[in-house]
Amino acid sequence: MSDNSEEISERKREHLELCLTDEVAFKQKKNGFDYYDFIHNAATEVELNKISFQTKFFGKKISYPFLISCMTGGADEAENINAKLAVAAAKLNVPIGVGSQRQIFENKTFKNSYKVIRKNAAGVPVLGNIGAAQVAAVKSVKRFQQLVNVIEADALVIHLNAAQELLQKNGEPNFKGLLDNITRLTKTLTVPVIVKEVGTGVSSAAAKKLLDAGVAGIDVAGAGGTSWTGVEILRNKNTDGIEFWDWGLPASYCIKEIFKLKRNYKFTLIGSGGINSAMDAAKALALGSDLVASARIILTELHKNDIEGVINLISGWFDTIKKIMFLTGSKNLKQLRKNKLIKKDLLF
Ligand SMILES: Cc1cc2nc3c(=O)[nH]c(=O)nc-3n(C[C@H](O)[C@H](O)[C@H](O)COP(=O)(O)O)c2cc1C
Repeated sequence: MSDNSEEISERKREHLELCLTDEVAFKQKKNGFDYYDFIHNAATEVELNKISFQTKFFGKKISYPFLISCMTGGADEAENINAKLAVAAAKLNVPIGVGSQRQIFENKTFKNSYKVIRKNAAGVPVLGNIGAAQVAAVKSVKRFQQLVNVIEADALVIHLNAAQELLQKNGEPNFKGLLDNITRLTKTLTVPVIVKEVGTGVSSAAAKKLLDAGVAGIDVAGAGGTSWTGVEILRNKNTDGIEFWDWGLPASYCIKEIFKLKRNYKFTLIGSGGINSAMDAAKALALGSDLVASARIILTELHKNDIEGVINLISGWFDTIKKIMFLTGSKNLKQLRKNKLIKKDLLF
């Protein structure tokens, strides 16, 4: 194995280990969903048993508007985790992402840690994943198409992790040429391109540039959940960059602002960043997300209660969201998005 490849695997291991602790959460900043309340509808006529969450995601029918966010691959431990997450995704019939596939550029040893997702979740949308630094640096579209082909991906996710790269040991905080290369990929790849942050959020101005580059989906991955600058600070075992621990735009703000771009652009909006409860998920949907996504809570639930735990967690959230829809008079998700939230300070 090359030094680079070994370093990547070691990094993946440390990420998994650290993300099983709450130490990596944002310290002060919140995702902002707590600042909203649902408007109770005393005269609701919604029939609970008629609510369906079935929707389409990049051409495939899914049972819940929920995505198991991109997490891992490229290390020994990753194969088992991805295998189990994929079984949960298949049972729930929801999309799932793989973690960064950069390791495939380096060597073939860990190919199965990615392939196992498609193997265990044959029918659901599966998302490939690669970092902005690679997209900026690697000119050959063929290499990115290879990432798609290996896992028969339905879309390729590019993660934009500027703050993480800045603090990561041997990180690559150089995205020069990113937008041009994203444009090339959106024009040439056989599947759509989705962009995501990793926990510092996407502004409306950045979203507009990315949509102009042709992306078909934006996952805001806003601040308030897992802090990836925090993860790297802990890995570095010193306090360099500590002022960036809570850097980023809250998830609720990103969703609200980017939703407005739907007036002029057609795209899928994914709300994420600290979606750790049914209430968070419901508010993210009510603010305009087409889908919600979670990462770290899924990993910790898998660790504690295995595949069943993940299935129960997500199906349980959507049982609660049904009740929220009943109480807000929302027959479907479209109605849940229509003026069902109020800022809490307006209530008093
Ligand atoms: C263990 C772990 C590994 C991750 N690795 C990746 C990755 O390789 N690519 C990526 O796009 N995001 C990655 N993420 C970021 C998540 O997809 C997500 O955007 C971020 O953690 C915020 O969501 P959360 O607050 O629900 O954890 C990872 C998250 C976790 C917990």
